[in-house]
This record gives sequence, structure tokens and C-alpha cells, in this order.
Amino acid sequence: MAAVKAMSFAPLFLLSLLLAAHNVVVSEARKGVGIYVLRRGDLTLQFTNYGATMLSVILPDKDGNLSDVILGYDTFAGYKNDTTYFGALVGRVANRIGKAQFTLNGVRYKLPANDGNNTLHGGLVGFSDVIWDVQSYNTESHVTFTYKSFDGEQGFPGDLWVSVKYMLIGRNKLGVKMESKPLNKPTPVNLALHTYWNLRGHNSGDILSHKIQLFASKITPVNDKLIPTGEIKDIRGTPFDFLQSRPIGSQINELPNGYDINYILDKTSNAHLKRVAVVKESVSGRKLELWSNQPGVQFYTSNMLKNEKGKGGAIYKKYAGLCLETQGFPDSVNHPNFPSQIVNPGETYKHIMLYRFTA
Ligand SMILES: *[C@@H]1O[C@H](CO)[C@@H](O)[C@H](O)[C@H]1NC(C)=O
Ligand SMILES: *[C@@H]1O[C@H](CO)[C@@H](O)[C@H](O)[C@H]1NC(C)=O
Ligand SMILES: *[C@@H]1O[C@H](CO)[C@@H](O)[C@H](O)[C@H]1NC(C)=O
Repeated sequence: MAAVKAMSFAPLFLLSLLLAAHNVVVSEARKGVGIYVLRRGDLTLQFTNYGATMLSVILPDKDGNLSDVILGYDTFAGYKNDTTYFGALVGRVANRIGKAQFTLNGVRYKLPANDGNNTLHGGLVGFSDVIWDVQSYNTESHVTFTYKSFDGEQGFPGDLWVSVKYMLIGRNKLGVKMESKPLNKPTPVNLALHTYWNLRGHNSGDILSHKIQLFASKITPVNDKLIPTGEIKDIRGTPFDFLQSRPIGSQINELPNGYDINYILDKTSNAHLKRVAVVKESVSGRKLELWSNQPGVQFYTSNMLKNEKGKGGAIYKKYAGLCLETQGFPDSVNHPNFPSQIVNPGETYKHIMLYRFTA
């Protein structure tokens, strides 16, 4: 199994890394799994077509020092065996589906239960665990992965074409464009990018002192198995309220087990893309801003991480990273009052994310 090279911060090492990455592409060509690098100035990102996964994001801090700011593994074996979904593109339906089933047009669909009695992130072998095709790649601009999901895959109806384009925009922005087209049957589609961020560096401890602002005044509350009750709840003045920027850890102890909840994004303007979040880390000075066209964002503080062996010998503990998974609402297929995720043949699902990185 080819190793995904551990990131190092010295420029010379970066060069050897790029060459190594190229070798990996060649040596893994048989199986079709490779590493794809996007680079502009001192911004470097790595992806693999295994799960359309984001492997690393290297950013300068306020002094120009480079660090990899997302959690991940050193080897493909790590990604194949994981239960963390580090950096992966999850689907066909991200998040949970209660009781691993739903009914569409009078037909009951049974799905694999991989999270207690529920389905999580597309089932046992979701889009995060399949090899995608590389449709287009230019290290200076973009990489596009595509996947054709088959009728009945993980229990879902109909053949489905899926694509994700990761693209550099301007000097310091990453655009992510996910698209999907049902080819013959209506089907639910809800894709999400499951990146774990730690702006001080992936191996720098917890994210509790990161400050976050979330442009959302409501959540979809869940039961003890993290399945939505169907309610929509105003969270102003509660520990879930991040309308004003504050440290993630400032009220986290008032919750049973960290943040793992869908926020309903406020409509702050008529722009096509809504503001989702601003995250700041004061030691490095790094800041991440996120916009999206999606109705919700799952805010997850990696509550389930427990001594996970990661890149370069890192051991990721609880709260080592934070996820901002823009998406539709969890378990929408079983909640008629939530925005529908059903896409019909002839329609196209479109999910846009735009990140801006500054320091
Ligand atoms: C696979 O994952 C399990 C638990 O998630 C872990 O105990 C085991 O060491 C992993 N195996 C490999 C080869 O990484
Ligand atoms: C799954 O459902 C069964 C039947 O309702 C129940 O007895 C069991 O405790 C559930 N399992 C989990 C892990 O929730
Ligand atoms: C950047 O690296 C230099 C040299 O190691 C160090 O003195 C400085 O504190 C670093 N900057 C930050 C923001 O960590």
C-alpha cells in the first residue's frame, strides 16, 4: 500500500514530496489511486481520488510558517480502515438516516445500519470508501473527481452520477463544487465534505481556544442516538449560540458531549452563497471563512476521537479538530417538514463551498 507522505514544512521537503506524490500516482496506477496536488503561492493542498478525500491543507501563519491544518492519516490503509471520515466526501446521503430506512413514492428502501440501528454517511461503503475517476487535473488550478453510483448501491434507488471539483480561486481561496444527477430514478442526495480543521496545526492539541462565529440562530435538535426529533429550535442565549464570535470551549462543558448538531443557516442577504462560519486561532493568527449554498451545517467538535493514530505520528484526542459540514438537514428523508433532498432524473443537485484562508 502506498504511503501518503507525511507533510513537512521545509521547502526542500515540499519539493521531494511533490516528486514522491508523482511516484505514488504512477505506482498506484494499476489500482487507480493517486495523490493530486494543488498549489498557489504558499497555499498547498493534496487530494486523493480514494473517497475524493482532502489529504492536507498547508497554510502560512502570521509569520509565514507553514503547517498542515487538517487531520488525516499517513497511509491509504488508514483511510480505508477509518471510522472518522477524515477529509472525505461523504454520500450518497451524508449524516444519519433514522432506523436505516425511508419511503419514497410508496416504496420502502432498507439501508445498511452502520451506526447502531441507523445509517451514517451513506452506509457501510459510502462514497468516502470508493475509488473515484479523475476527470480533470491541473496542479495550478483544479482537480475534478467523478463517480457513477449504481442502482441499489448501499440500498439507494437508481444510478447516480456524482462529481466534485476542488479549485483554487484567487490567492487564498478554495472552491468546492459538488454536483449530482440521477440517471433513472428519483433518489435522495446529500453530499458533505468531512474535513477536520485545527488552524494551529493538525498536531497541536485541541481546538477549544479557536474562536468561531456561526451564522445560524436555529438548530435541529436530536435524540440520544443523534437522530433529529423534527423540531426546529431557536438557540439564542444557549451554549449553542455562536452568533457572536467566542471560543469553542467557553460553554462546551454545559453539553453532554461536545457539539455535533445541524445548524440552520440564517439568510443574511440575497446573495447566492450564505455566510456559514468564521474561525480564528490567535497563536498562529490563521483565519478560515466559509460560504455555502446549503441550508445547514453540521458543527462537530470531534467528540468521538479517542487516541486516533494520524499523520506523522500524531495522536488525535477528543476535540483535536472541528468539522463544518455544509449540507441538507440530517434524516430529511424521514422529516417532511425539512427541506427535501429528493432529486429527480433531469434535475441536478448542486452544492457549493467557498473557503478563504488568511493570517
Ligand atoms: C483499523 O481500525 C481499528 C479500530 O478503528 C483499529 O483498532 C485497527 O488498528 C485499525 N487497523 C489498521 C490496519 O489500521
Ligand atoms: C436497535 O433496535 C432494537 C429494537 O428496537 C433495540 O432493542 C436495540 O437496543 C437498538 N440498538 C441500538 C444500538 O440502539
Ligand atoms: C514561526 O517560526 C519562528 C521560527 O521557528 C518562530 O520564532 C515563530 O514564533 C513562529 N511563528 C508562529 C506564529 O508560531
